[in-house]
Amino acid sequence: MCGIVGGVAERNISNILIEGLKRLEYRGYDSAGLALINGGHVLRERRVGKVANLEQAVIEAELTGSLGIAHTRWATHGKPTENNAHPHISGNVAVVHNGIIENFQELKDDLEALGYVFTSQTDTEVVAHLVNDALKSTPSLLEAVKQVVPQLKGAYALGIIHTDHPDELITVREGSPLVIGVGIGENFISSDQLALLPITNRFIYLEEGDIARLTRETIEVFVDGQLVNRPVKELDATVSNASKGEYKHYMLKEIYEQPEAIQQTISQALNGNALREDFLAQAEQDFASIQQVQIIACGTSYHAGMIAKYWFEQLIDVPCQVEIASEYRYRTPVIVNNTLYICISQSGETADTLAALRDTQKRAAAKALNICTMAICNVATSSMVRETHHSLLTLAGPEIGVASTKAFTTQLAALMLLILKIGQVKQSIAEKTVTEIIAELWHTPKVILDTLQHNPAILHLSELFVEKNHCLFLGRGTQFPIALEGALKLKEISYIHAEGYAAGELKHGPLALVDNEMPVVILAPKDDMLDKLKSNMEEVQARGGELFVFADEHSGIKTKERQHVVHIPSISAVLAPIVYSIPVQLLSYHVAVLRGTDVDQPRNLAKSVTVE
Ligand code: AGP
Repeated sequence: MCGIVGGVAERNISNILIEGLKRLEYRGYDSAGLALINGGHVLRERRVGKVANLEQAVIEAELTGSLGIAHTRWATHGKPTENNAHPHISGNVAVVHNGIIENFQELKDDLEALGYVFTSQTDTEVVAHLVNDALKSTPSLLEAVKQVVPQLKGAYALGIIHTDHPDELITVREGSPLVIGVGIGENFISSDQLALLPITNRFIYLEEGDIARLTRETIEVFVDGQLVNRPVKELDATVSNASKGEYKHYMLKEIYEQPEAIQQTISQALNGNALREDFLAQAEQDFASIQQVQIIACGTSYHAGMIAKYWFEQLIDVPCQVEIASEYRYRTPVIVNNTLYICISQSGETADTLAALRDTQKRAAAKALNICTMAICNVATSSMVRETHHSLLTLAGPEIGVASTKAFTTQLAALMLLILKIGQVKQSIAEKTVTEIIAELWHTPKVILDTLQHNPAILHLSELFVEKNHCLFLGRGTQFPIALEGALKLKEISYIHAEGYAAGELKHGPLALVDNEMPVVILAPKDDMLDKLKSNMEEVQARGGELFVFADEHSGIKTKERQHVVHIPSISAVLAPIVYSIPVQLLSYHVAVLRGTDVDQPRNLAKSVTVE
């Protein structure tokens, strides 16, 4: 998704801006640009493709300046071309923008009537012209921006500079993330603090509706024209630990980090084989009154929610619904009293999930309903964590690969902890069961480590996939969402068309697809559904399908003609979805590497989907 970096300093900041953009590359983008103010001029370079292209252009043009803004663009309005890349300029104003200006066409018509000429197809360019136009009635850049903001509809973040204000950077947050990095005698902005970590660990997290004016020495934040105080927060040093190390891709590193990430996530909640007394203690009263759960999430996080639904209902007898946020937010769902709304999100900034959360809160307040909201999230400083009553952090560390891996398995671990907690508060789970599941949770990192030992066998399977164009993933019970997740992983990074199905649904349609060109991946832990799953495997084999099976070592399933089996170490049926995530991640990873795709930044995708 688009990324913003900007700064005002005494030194040349062109290299800082480029480095910042590089740190945002993982989010996905198709072009990049930078503008600096120097000697009363706006100096700008923009390039299609990688930040490295822009860097080369900036070096060749010898661009320097101590005030500047930079951007990686993920096309929404207009193709990925140099003209559409940011910054956009009008007169002496330069603007970078994340998000969408929904009423841009009306604004554009008005501006064209006033004689402004548009050089791009973007919605952003209206902001540059509007600020330029507002400067006719005020010499203050800040005042001009304050006049423009109420005219803009949509969700956006902005960085704005002007040649006549060489020590002033104006920024706006309205529905799209923006942080200020606080330096000594210099200050910076970014859409993601990760971009600024080499320069500072002190941040101001802007809130929706904030307009800020940064100079080298000062930071002023305004809400509705009034100066407000936003605290400076110091970031834990471990958050900055995001490099590929010995691994070829972030995704592989993140797959291998899962034992530790899960250990970290569960350690915050457990004391031996019991939940810590202080774990979610502040939420106990809310948990006591809830009668059902509604989970809202997107993509991989939605799959984690699907598994939690099985757990909520089987383990603690609490009804649970789960829905994709982009549907939920638009279908006017009934908000029910005494419901716990859980948003699951790696980033905590996903636009659809945030919008669904905000809409739910608004509608519950309008009817004076008693609801409780909770975020399960990997980013402590994210909007979702700040805007919910309670939060439970997945302590996975930064996840850079677009394909979610360790965020997913830590979400599952966190959800299980939450379910145990709610079950205890509502006394709907036996203490013995809690103790047994916690013992299994502690054991899970080891089982994942042992599963990772099967990497060579999974690499071997992936060699048989390289030429395939389609693939089916099948599972039953909590392995059904893992089948969906396996298919999502394979399609997003290898670009092979893949579908996940509940194996029992095979006869109701997808069996028609099975022939000797169709690989079928089976998830076969040792659980109550194993015999039924074996029948489904027979159905596939009888139609000439080739089976790739991840099966419990004691399942009795063996390699034979057109049936390739990788044995997975035994784990309790209830936690099996955490462990069976690993082989499907590795399979997708190896297939993608063999097909030569951009594994960490697959085409057309972004890590954090902050626009609709
Ligand atoms: C997963 O591999 C994807 N990249 C994607 O589905 C992701 O899970 C989804 O966009 C939701 O993101 P979030 O968890 O940050 O809200």
